[in-house]
Amino acid sequence: MLDTHIVTLSRHIVEQERRFPEATGQFTNVLFDLALAAKVIGREVNKAGIVDVIGRTDQVNVHGETVQKLDEYADLVVLNAMDHTGNLCCMASEEHEDVIAIPERFPTGEYVLMYDPLDGSSNIDVNVSIGTIFSIHRKVSKGPRGALEDCLQVGRRQVAAGYVVYGSSTMLVYTSGAGVHGFTLDPSIGEFVLSHPDVTLPDPPNRVYSVNEAYAPRWGEGQRAFVAELKEEGYTQRYIGSLVSDFHRTLLRGGIFMYPPDLRQPQGKLRLLYEAAPLAFIAEQAGGRASTGEIDIMDVVPTELHQRTPLFMGSKGMVDRAEEFLARDR
Ligand code: AHG
Ligand code: MN
Ligand code: MN
Ligand code: MN
Repeated sequence: MLDTHIVTLSRHIVEQERRFPEATGQFTNVLFDLALAAKVIGREVNKAGIVDVIGRTDQVNVHGETVQKLDEYADLVVLNAMDHTGNLCCMASEEHEDVIAIPERFPTGEYVLMYDPLDGSSNIDVNVSIGTIFSIHRKVSKGPRGALEDCLQVGRRQVAAGYVVYGSSTMLVYTSGAGVHGFTLDPSIGEFVLSHPDVTLPDPPNRVYSVNEAYAPRWGEGQRAFVAELKEEGYTQRYIGSLVSDFHRTLLRGGIFMYPPDLRQPQGKLRLLYEAAPLAFIAEQAGGRASTGEIDIMDVVPTELHQRTPLFMGSKGMVDRAEEFLARDR
């Protein structure tokens, strides 16, 4: 018998909002608008190769990366979905060097959105899963229209975080501090439907580690020893090169994802505010951990908008072990 108890993302968000009697609905609307942006981005991602959204633009972003057409498209979709709604005081994006102010002609609100519009850009043209990552904070600045200090908040203060993975299906996974919940887009009704309620990392975890071993020659001794030990213990390795996809697999199966520091990237490659911190919130809410190799990602006090951080994330026991090995490299 088909289960007709469909719980849509919209209904789930409203039910989560009921936990905050003083809620104004702004937070709910931010998530609604993000879900809309995800559907629009997913529609283009699924047509990549048919319509002209693959390939590069002639721009280089603040990270020195060539901006892919879909990076730019996804960034615009999120911007245009969010900038006029009166729920945000400002935004930050991987693809914008500075804080994104809300245009004067639009009202502002009490929340801050930071996002990676398209994660895994190197995989777009070869039809490998990519994603979008978002982090939501409350406004803390005194001024009417938001400021850098609203973005430079420690991860533990996030009110919500999530990601969309554009894979064999389009899934949206989010937490607002009451567990992690996954929704799969049903294109036939255009709704994200609850498919993975209360996601928790499996225990014992699957014996999988995820790291780009091409950089092993530039790792520290401890990092090398940790991976060697996992191999000895018969772990398997999976690395897609899309953080969202590598994280999503780790969340559902267990194991550990690592983007370690190395001689060429002493702070690793991944960005704290819109990659590591939102996924760390989800990892912790799912019973796991996310560490810099030294301290919890959620306790790192940001000093710059695009600062990078080493990242060790997944099953608690494995992240604990990684920290012990990494201590040798300090
Ligand atoms: P983005 O496409 O948003 O710039 O992020 C790419 C990141 C992340 O998705 C992935 O984990 C990592 O780049 C892969 O880096 P390497 O190619 O150095 O392994
Ligand atoms: Mn990029
Ligand atoms: Mn990314
Ligand atoms: Mn990106």
